[in-house]
This record gives sequence, structure tokens and C-alpha cells, in this order.
Amino acid sequence: MPVEIQSASLCIGIVGTGAMGRGIAQIAAHAGIRVLLFDALHGAAANARDTVTGTLGKLADKGKISAEAATAASAKLEVVARLDELASAQVIVEAIVENLDVKKSLFQQLEDIIAADCILATNTSSLSVTSIAAACKRPERVGGFHFFNPVPLMKIVEVIDGLLTAAWVTDALLALGRRMGHTAVRAKDTPGFIVNHAGRGFVTEALRILGEGVCDFPAIDRIMREAAGFRMGPFELLDLTGLDVSQPVMESIYHQYYQEPRYRPSALAAQRLTGGLLGRKTGRGFYSYADGAAVPLPEAPAPTTLPASVWISQAVPDWAQALREIAEKAGVAVESGPVPGPAALCIVTPLGADATSACATQGLDPTRTVAIDCLLGTGAAARRSLMTTPLTGAAMRDAAHALFAADGTAVSVIRDSAGFVGQRILACIVNIGCDIAQQRVAAPADIDRAVTLGLGYPKGPLAFGDALGAARVLKILETMQDFYGDPRYRPSPWLKRRALLGISLLTDET
Ligand code: NAI
Repeated sequence: MPVEIQSASLCIGIVGTGAMGRGIAQIAAHAGIRVLLFDALHGAAANARDTVTGTLGKLADKGKISAEAATAASAKLEVVARLDELASAQVIVEAIVENLDVKKSLFQQLEDIIAADCILATNTSSLSVTSIAAACKRPERVGGFHFFNPVPLMKIVEVIDGLLTAAWVTDALLALGRRMGHTAVRAKDTPGFIVNHAGRGFVTEALRILGEGVCDFPAIDRIMREAAGFRMGPFELLDLTGLDVSQPVMESIYHQYYQEPRYRPSALAAQRLTGGLLGRKTGRGFYSYADGAAVPLPEAPAPTTLPASVWISQAVPDWAQALREIAEKAGVAVESGPVPGPAALCIVTPLGADATSACATQGLDPTRTVAIDCLLGTGAAARRSLMTTPLTGAAMRDAAHALFAADGTAVSVIRDSAGFVGQRILACIVNIGCDIAQQRVAAPADIDRAVTLGLGYPKGPLAFGDALGAARVLKILETMQDFYGDPRYRPSPWLKRRALLGISLLTDET
């Protein structure tokens, strides 16, 4: 490796000292690396140095780092006024405006200044590293170095191999990312790399469920937070990021993959963008905001009138047994015959199917059938999801709600949807994660590492698939694809093969 990343005299240049550049400067200086800061805007680099020095001082005041470490790190930051003062750097990281021509032109200018073995790294999140490199005389020294905002807290960096990048360059950037205290994962130069690619399932499927009129957006958020364990629901996330940022990313990745249906954006979000309903930053997105906090949308209390009797489908015997225990605890008579009596509430437990299809397949009365999502557990869970057919009577719906809320568990009641809310969104996340592995964008374990650190999901997509059961996820997707006739839900070959072989989705191929 021509560049000695572990060397005490390592020097890096940072061009563009905005939000990202200063974050990268902070972690590099803290790792004992000499950092030269350059920005085209007069005074911006000095401002960045002062801000980073201030941040390091505050960290020392709070006892997060020692006062000596803060002083030593601050001393590593140097402002330079001209690009040619970066000549002594062994690695240059650009974090300038996200514009292909401007980035190409910067690297071309730098090539006339820097040493022959100096690495040129780009922090781009949406441009092709290969196309930036192609403009250079020595494209093999150009690699991607994609950090997340805020850099010191988001401890992940994607190191991108462009088509023309030499292996020693990405090896050096991986080592540099680790020296700076981050988890560094290697990824191929593909639209969205790992993290922004893997993030397509959560929000686009949530928008699709909303667009289909299955339920309102707070219900989707509650299910994903409380039943599926996400820190934030998809609509809370959209409001936080702002539709002015998320919608262009959704469209860009969709078009870069030549209209791949799995990433299809939503007309509903596009319209909200034109209406200026961007999210927190405009005071109104999906939620309304007052004093920086979302105005609460309280849930109606659960009904209390229990059904006289209940019949539970035996399609999945373990689930049927668990539901029987819930009903018995609530004091509701459970019918045990193969077909329901004339007045019983009928409970079905579909996987990927809607309540109507489950009802039709099992020859049940749609006016008194209610489906329950058991994929995420049947016990006293944080939240249960119930789903009606278009004909389910209000009394039967409310009786089912009362029954499954009787032990104090929160219940969401949604309209008919192949795959409820949770199964749909989780299956899309797992499927996209599998396809990232199938396309060999990154090693399976790195995909999960990048997603948990970059998106804050409770598990990586492959581990999520393993926890739910690959065969079950496959069944959900195949059933949804059959119902909707939409190639969006076609299962990835990675998922299919591992489900058929009964092996972990993290299993790589030799
Ligand atoms: P920013 O707008 O906060 O900072 C950009 C800085 O670059 C400004 O100080 C500007 O004066 C300077 N600049 C612009 N053109 C220049 C040039 N030709 N030469 C020297 N300096 C120049 O932008 P931010 O958010 O820090 O983003 C920078 C890069 O990082 C972009 O490529 C962006 O896509 C990428 N990125 C941003 C993330 C974010 O969440 N903000 C996350 C990951 C990557």
C-alpha cells in the first residue's frame, strides 16, 4: 500500500468544509491525523476549524474526551488558502457541492498538484464514483468515502470501489475509516451504494400502503415502531428528513436502476412536495409541528364488548394455539370444530395474503371474519394488527379489537391488505437487502452492519429475514406478487435459494 495509513505523520486534505467536511475533519484530527482544510468560500475553512475546535472543547468539558486529547486534536487542524497548499497530503477527501462537473473539475485541478500516489476520495452520496474518476488522468487512485451526517455520531463509512479504482486505494480508505474510529465497509459503485439502496423498502412500501387506503399514516408509524421495533415510523422519518431531500433520492435511485419496480416512488409524496408539505422544516409534513414537536394524534380507546365465541383458523397450528390462549384468558369461548358455528367471530392468520383471500380459501363468512398478523409474535406484544374484509361487520370488527386488546396490548385495525402493514414493509426490506447481496454490492455481513449503523434499524435486512424465517418472507412476497400482479414483490434469487436450502440469508457463496 503506497500510503502508510497508520503512520504518525499521515496528512489528509479536506476540500469543502461544510457539514460533512467538518465532521470528517473532527474524527480525523481526533485520530491524530494532520488535517489541511480548504474551502472555495473565503473564511469557511477557518470557520470550520473554529467550530471543530469548539466541539472538541465541549466534548472535553462533558468528560467525553480528555482536555489533552481535545488540545492535541485541535492542533492537527490547519487552514489553507489555496488548493496547491494541499500538495503534501497523502489522501484528499472532497465534501463539496453534489455536482458531477464541479467534482470532476476539482479532481482534475488536484491531479496537477498532488503526489503521484496521493488518493482522491469523494464523499458523494448519489453520484457515480466511476464517472468522477473517469475524468482523471489516474482514475485508479479515485475511490468513494461515503460518510453519514452527523459524521462523529454516525459511525459508519462506505468505501466505494469504482470500476477503475485500484484495490490498494480502497484498502487504504478502509484502514483510514477504521483509524478514525468508524466501521468501514466496502461496496461496489452502484446507485445508493449499500445504505441508501437498502433504505428503499421502508418508506416506499409505507407510501404504497397509504396510497392504497389501507389505513392512515399514524397507524403505519405505530405498527412499525411498536410491533416491528423501529425507532421511528416511516412518516416520522419522512418528516424529519424533509420531502425536498427524500423524494429526489427516491426518484434518483429508481431512475438510475432503470425504473426497477422495487424502488418505485409514490405519486402521493410527489404531490405533497409540490404543496410544500416538506416536514418538520416547514412546520407541516404528514404531521403538524408546534414548537418543534409533532402535534399528537391520539388513538381512540379500544372497544370492550367481547365476542360471544370465537373460531380460530388452524392454518398455522402454533399461532392458532397462541390465539386460543389469549381468547381463553379473556374468558371468550373458543370453538374447536373444523368449521365455525353460525355466530362465531372467525379469526384467520394469513401470511402475505389479505383477509378476503384467507376467507375465500377457507370457505368462511366474510361478514364475521377478521385477520390477525402473527408474524411478529402472538404473545402480549407491544402492538397487534387486525385486518377486516370489505364485508366484515362493525360489531365483529369491534369484538375482535376488544378481544385482542383485553390483555392491555395496543391494537391497530386496518382495512384489507395483502400482507397487513408489518409483513409488507418487512418483506420489502428483507428482499431489497437480499438483492443487494445478490448483486454482490457488498459482503452479506457488511450489508447488515451498514444498515444497522446507517439507518438505525433494529436489525440488518438479512438478520431480519433470518429472525422472521426466510421461507416465511418468501411466502409473503410470492403471495403478494400473485395478489397484486406487481413485479415489485418478486423475490430476489438470493432469498429464494436460501429459503429453499433452509440456510441463513447471511450465507455467502464461494
Ligand atoms: P455543505 O453545503 O454543508 O458544504 C459544502 C462546502 O463545500 C461549502 O462550504 C462550500 O463553500 C464548499 N464548496 C462548494 N464547492 C466547492 C469547490 N468547488 N471547491 C471548494 N469548496 C467548495 O454540504 P454537505 O452537506 O457538507 O455535503 C458535502 C458533500 O457530502 C456532498 O457531496 C454531499 O452529497 C455529501 N454528503 C452529504 C451528506 C449530508 O447529509 N449532508 C451525507 C453524505 C454525503
